[in-house]
Amino acid sequence: MDTKQRSILITGGAGFIGSHVVRLFIKKYAQYHIVNLDKLTYAGNLENLKDIEKAPNYTFVKGDILDADLLNELFEKYNFHGVIHLAAESHVDRSISNPLAFVETNVLGTVTLLNVAKTHWKGKEEDKLFYHISTDEVYGTLGEEGLFTEETPYDPRSPYSSAKASSDHFVRAYHHTFGLPVVISNCSNNYGSHQFPEKLIPLFINNIKHNKPLPVYGDGKYTRDWLWVVDHAAAIDLIYHKGRLGETYNIGGRNEWKNIDLIHVLCDVMDEELGREQGSSRNLITYVTDRPGHDRRYAIDATKLENELGWKASVTFREGLRGTITWYLQNEEWLNNVTSGNYQDYYRKQYRSV
Ligand code: NAD
Ligand code: TYD
Repeated sequence: MDTKQRSILITGGAGFIGSHVVRLFIKKYAQYHIVNLDKLTYAGNLENLKDIEKAPNYTFVKGDILDADLLNELFEKYNFHGVIHLAAESHVDRSISNPLAFVETNVLGTVTLLNVAKTHWKGKEEDKLFYHISTDEVYGTLGEEGLFTEETPYDPRSPYSSAKASSDHFVRAYHHTFGLPVVISNCSNNYGSHQFPEKLIPLFINNIKHNKPLPVYGDGKYTRDWLWVVDHAAAIDLIYHKGRLGETYNIGGRNEWKNIDLIHVLCDVMDEELGREQGSSRNLITYVTDRPGHDRRYAIDATKLENELGWKASVTFREGLRGTITWYLQNEEWLNNVTSGNYQDYYRKQYRSV
C-alpha cells in the first residue's frame, strides 16, 4: 500500500501526538497527500508543524469534526483512502469540569466522521481504512499486578475515558454493522516535545523552570506506563500499513513509573540541565488534593503489536525524558506562547490551592 499515491485525512494533526504523526507521514511518504483537519482548540497549535507547513504533500484545513458538510466536501474533493482519527478532547482534569465537551467531540465527532466515511466509501471498502486512535484508559484501572491486554474488558471511570470508550464502541459497531474497514489502537501515556503543559511532564518542566510548586495529586503513588510520542507515531505508521482489519492493538513501552519516582528523576535532570544545585527542584514538590476518581495504575501488554508487527520502543525512558526536557528548555518561545492568556485562567482554577 505504501508505494501508491494516497490521500489521507488526519484529524487533530495540530495537537501533540497528531503533529508527530503528520510530520512522520509527510517526511516518509512523499507520494501521500496528507490533509490535516483540526479545529485549533486550546490544544491545537500550528507552531507544532512549522517545519513541514510548506511541504508540497500537505494541506491544513481549520475545521470541526462535527461539521458534516465540511467533511463531505473534503471527502468529495480529496477522495481519501484513509482516515487517521486523533482529534479529541484529551485531558482528564478538563473532562471532570466539563464532561459534555468530551461527549461532543469524542463521541458525536467520531460518529459524524464515521457516517461520512461510510457514505463516501460505500462499495469501495476494500481499498480504504478508518484508523481510530484511542487510549489505554478505556480499560479502567489496575491493582498492583497485571497488564491491560486487547481482551481486557472496558471499564472506563473518568468522563474522558468514558467518551473514548464510547467512540471505540462506535468504530467497532460501524465495522460489524456496515462493513467499514477499521483498525483501533489503545496507547498508554505519551510524553515528548509539543505536549500542551496541562499534562504531568510538560506542566512540571514549566513549573520547575519558573520555580513554581509541583502539584502532586494524592499520595503520588499512582502508576503510568510512559511512551515516547515518536515511538507512538512509529506504531501508528506500522498499524496503518500492516494492521489487520477489525483488530485492536495495544501500544505501550513497558515503562511503568509511580508518579513520585518519575517526578524525582524529572527534578534531578532539570537541576542538571539548569545548572542548579542537585535536590533544589525536589523542594518544589507539593502534595495537593487528589483528582476525583483517579485511576490507580495503567500498564500495557504490547505483545500482540511486538509479535505480529515487530514494533518496539526505540529509546530508554531516561534518554527520551532528557531529550524532552532539552526540547522544552530550547523552545522557550513555544512554551511562553502556550502558557500565556487562557492557560493562566485554567491554571488558577485547576490549582487553586497551590
Ligand atoms: P491534544 O489535546 O494534544 O490534541 C487534540 C487535537 O485535536 C488538537 O489539535 C485540537 O485542536 C484537535 N481537536 C479537538 N477537538 C476537535 C474537533 N471537534 N474537531 C477537530 N479537531 C479537534 O491530544 P493528544 O494528546 O495529541 O491526543 C491525540 C489522540 O490520542 C486523542 O484521541 C487521545 O485520546 C489519544 N491518546 C492520547 C494519549 C496521550 O498520552 N496524550 C495517549 C493515548 C491516546
Ligand atoms: P496526566 O498527564 O494528566 O495523564 P493521565 O491522567 O491521562 O494519566 O497525569 C499523569 C499522572 O500524573 C496522573 O496519575 C495524574 C498525575 N498528575 C499530578 O499528580 N499532578 C498534576 O498536576 C497532573 C496534571 C497530573
